[in-house]
Formats: sequence, structure tokens, C-alpha cells
Amino acid sequence: MFSQKLAEAVEFLKAGEIGIAPTETVYGLFGDANNDSAIKKIYEAKGRPSFNPLISHVSSIGMAEKLAEFNETAMILANYFWLDKAQPLTLILKKRRGAELSSLLTAGLDTVAIRIPMHSIAIELIDKFGGALAAPSANKSMSISPTTINMALSDLADAVSFALDGGACNVGLESTIVDVSSGGIRILRPGYVSQESIEDVLKESVPPCQHTGIIAPGMMKRHYSPKLPLRLCAHEPYPGEAFIAFGKTDVSPDANLSESGALEEASRSLYKTLKELDVPEKFKGIAIMPIPNVGIGVAINDRLTRAAARDTAK
Ligand code: TXA
Ligand code: MG
Repeated sequence: MFSQKLAEAVEFLKAGEIGIAPTETVYGLFGDANNDSAIKKIYEAKGRPSFNPLISHVSSIGMAEKLAEFNETAMILANYFWLDKAQPLTLILKKRRGAELSSLLTAGLDTVAIRIPMHSIAIELIDKFGGALAAPSANKSMSISPTTINMALSDLADAVSFALDGGACNVGLESTIVDVSSGGIRILRPGYVSQESIEDVLKESVPPCQHTGIIAPGMMKRHYSPKLPLRLCAHEPYPGEAFIAFGKTDVSPDANLSESGALEEASRSLYKTLKELDVPEKFKGIAIMPIPNVGIGVAINDRLTRAAARDTAK
């Protein structure tokens, strides 16, 4: 049954259509990375500005090497995080001359974002399709990334030709993005792969992710954005606020990201919880307890800070 659905999805992709499929981080909106018309459909469906490039998803380092140039740092990171650890890391690399990639996907840049998604459905989709697939998160621009098929469908049902259900995403936050295109290394977006783990592998210090403006074209300050105002580091709700706890609390919360205070559990449940409580008819705002700023907590706090920002300027 499912293999039939997957085969149909591959046929849609070959015909330049787009659809939803799971990855280990969040659900993606997939299309042929080398087909202008498919890439246009992705931008349109998301309402995403065309200057904000997409990630190319591949199923092997060999496939990535056809699209981009790997320097030594890039190869160490790919071998370790993609092959050994199977963890979500996106590499920004120099685009290879003549790479079979739509110029709309890279938004005209001479670099390209690439990752191997660690989810059997995404990998099978790429392998059966036989080429790289573009996939941003399967949500409308500015709304919360989906970690279940229903969250993705609530934004994009009308825009897609297929939707593959792979259950709830294991990681729940988008991949860590590092730019290794010009010798050094810069973390552009924190994620499950932490600064410390990158330092351990490279045996050199790596600066933390800095939000000093738009480094990647799409790195607007306000990005992951609920409708209700979000109040961070709260210890109890104000009247009318929904209250999200982390760990033990004296106040009875509307949701608890992890009663035992486990950061990985919190990252898995964060987006779904925000989406469920983002009900202006019911609440005036959302208050959330402090999240320790270590390991994947850095990525959780990055997303929360963006969700709490009310301006779109940076
Ligand atoms: O976990 C993920 O990365 C998910 C799943 C579906 O793979 N994808 C995802 O894609 O989060 P998206 O489009 O929502 O975010 C990709 C980010 C954007 O902020 C974009 O600006 C940045 O990657 N990006 C893409 N190409 C880039 C490039 N050449 N240089 C700098 N940033 C780039
Ligand atoms: Mg996104």
C-alpha cells in the first residue's frame, strides 16, 4: 500500500509536481531540484520570497559531490554527521560549475545548501526519483514548521500532489546549517547538531551562531511565528495566557514540553505545542518557561526568540 503511494509520489516529482514528505527534522515540501517549474511551485505554495534559497536533499555524499565542491572541512563534517552519526546537518558549499540544479533553487547564489535527510521515506523518495530534491519546511512562509503530516496539510493541502505520512518527526527542529563554502566555518542556524559537537569533530573552536543581521537571505529575525504574542522565560502565566512548562512547575500548565526536563523531548514537542495553543479565540498570549541554553537548547531558544520577535526587519 505505502510503496504504491511512494511510487506515485515519484511519478509526480518526475512530472514537475510537488508534495509533502517527512524528514527526521520537520516535514518538507519536496520537488525536483533541477526543475524550474517545480521550484516555482514550491515558492508559490509557501508564499516565500524568491531571494530565499532552498536546501537540496541527497541520499549520498557522491550525489552531493555532483552538485557542490567539498573542501576538507566539508568532507570531515559530511562523513561524521551524515554517515557515522546520521544527524541533521546542512552544509553550505560552493556550487559546482554545471551542477544540475535550478538557479531558482539557489536564488542566483554561487553556493548551495545540501543535506542528507535521515528518514527512510525521504531517502527512498530521493533514490527512486534518482536525483536531488529541493525541500523547504512544509509550512507557509512565517508560520510554524510542521512536525506531523496534519500540521503540514493544514497549511499546504491545496497546493500539493502527494502527501506521505511518516508519523511525528524524531528531532522536531530544522537542521543545523553551517557555511563551509569559503574555508572557515560559520553556524548560520543552530539545530540538533550543536556547536560543541562540531568543535569536537573538527578539533578547533567554532564561533556560536550570531544574529547580527541577515547572513543567509532567509534569516529574518522573525521567522517561526505564532499568531499570539509569545513571552519567554516566564515562571507563571498572566491572566489569559496559555502556559508552556519545561520540567517541574508549581503552576498547572496547558502543556509541558518535557516533565523530566529533557531537551530532546522538548524539541520534538515544541512546534506541535505552539501550534495547538496558538488560538487567539481562547488565549491572549503564550508564556513559556526558561529553557537551558545548552546543546539542543540553543536551537530551541533560537526558534523561541524568533517566534517572540514582532518585527520582520531583520
Ligand atoms: O531540517 C531542515 O533543514 C528542513 C527539512 C525539510 O530538510 N528544511 C528547512 O528548509 O528548514 P527551509 O527552506 O525552511 O530553511 C532553509 C534555510 C533558509 O533559511 C535559507 O535561507 C537557507 O537555508 N539557505 C539555503 N541556501 C542557502 C545558501 N546558499 N546560503 C545561505 N543560506 C542558505
Ligand atoms: Mg522553514
